[in-house]
Amino acid sequence: MNVLGFESSCDETGVALVSVDSTSLRLRAQALHSQIDMHRAYGGVVPELASRDHIRRVLPLTEAVLAGAGAELSDIDLLAYTRGPGLAGALLVGAGFACALATALGKPMLGVHHLEGHLLSPFLSANPPSFPFVALLVSGGHTQLMRVDDVGDYRLLGETIDDAAGEAFDKTAKLLGLPYPGGPELARLAETGDAAAFELPRPLLHSGTLDFSFAGLKTAVRTHVLKLGDGISAQQRADLAAATQQAIVDVLVRKSIAALKQTGLRSIVVAGGVGANRLLRRQLDAAAAGRSATVFYPELSLCTDNGAMIALAAAMRVQRGIAEPATVGRFDVRPRWPLSEVSIT
Ligand code: KG4
Ligand code: ZN
Repeated sequence: MNVLGFESSCDETGVALVSVDSTSLRLRAQALHSQIDMHRAYGGVVPELASRDHIRRVLPLTEAVLAGAGAELSDIDLLAYTRGPGLAGALLVGAGFACALATALGKPMLGVHHLEGHLLSPFLSANPPSFPFVALLVSGGHTQLMRVDDVGDYRLLGETIDDAAGEAFDKTAKLLGLPYPGGPELARLAETGDAAAFELPRPLLHSGTLDFSFAGLKTAVRTHVLKLGDGISAQQRADLAAATQQAIVDVLVRKSIAALKQTGLRSIVVAGGVGANRLLRRQLDAAAAGRSATVFYPELSLCTDNGAMIALAAAMRVQRGIAEPATVGRFDVRPRWPLSEVSIT
């Protein structure tokens, strides 16, 4: 089965062709356009500009993917698109395009949950996990720990009660004067900083639950920045970046290990943009090794938003018979869509 997937929930237009059969999963080609440069001038994503840019990019990216895979439109068996959660206008572009193509080709289509795409994305890596596992989903909008028993079998173990981990990176980066998106920029600045130079809170670290809270961390960084004022040195900025990154990573690692303990599982999958963070990878790997557990990551290029994870999630659902692709030319999007609604448990 050849699945053409479209991702357009936020500021990346992603298209990919994934082929699946009963024994293998293969990413044939993918193409991505990031809108980061366009949104940077505004310090964040401007939804209307995002939608318009998705419209401009989706067709050339689709042509590039088909050419890269050496495939024809007639080779496609299923069209998959991100149905939500995300920006309504942006989602509508991918969904509308997939629906138009499906209708023109007389092929079925399936709307996919963006987070399901993220958490299944390590199945496209050279060393894929096997079920069951704990999933740590850390993106710009979500921070969740889940027990995953199979495709479509997701149980929430804990989540953030306020800001997401990516949001904490982005907001503190902004306070330090770094450009959008702040996560990778803050991580880069942190490399030259001393994490011990500032004491920052680790919210809910000892709460005994698997929930997270990052809003207080941002406030603490703001207090330091205001206190230092214009006299803040380059070294102090780097130190604050390092301390912030360490605080976020400490909480993510501690809660992930607690989730392994609670479930008795020995595999953990990390997905979503913050999964690209090197310190998180290093410290989670070390902590998991101490419990004879293994951490699985998507390929770095599949950590942030992409079309491959959407094609993959659709393929895995259809293959297992837990989703029925639509054959009529009609679609909708779900800007706010809880993952629990696509779970069988
Ligand atoms: O999954 P994603 O691409 O989009 C959403 O679905 O939200 O995640 C984007 C988030 C942003 O908050 C970004 O700052 C963060 O992931 N991010 C990072 C790194 N790369 C991306 N955060 C920390 N370190 C990184 N290297
Ligand atoms: Zn995402």
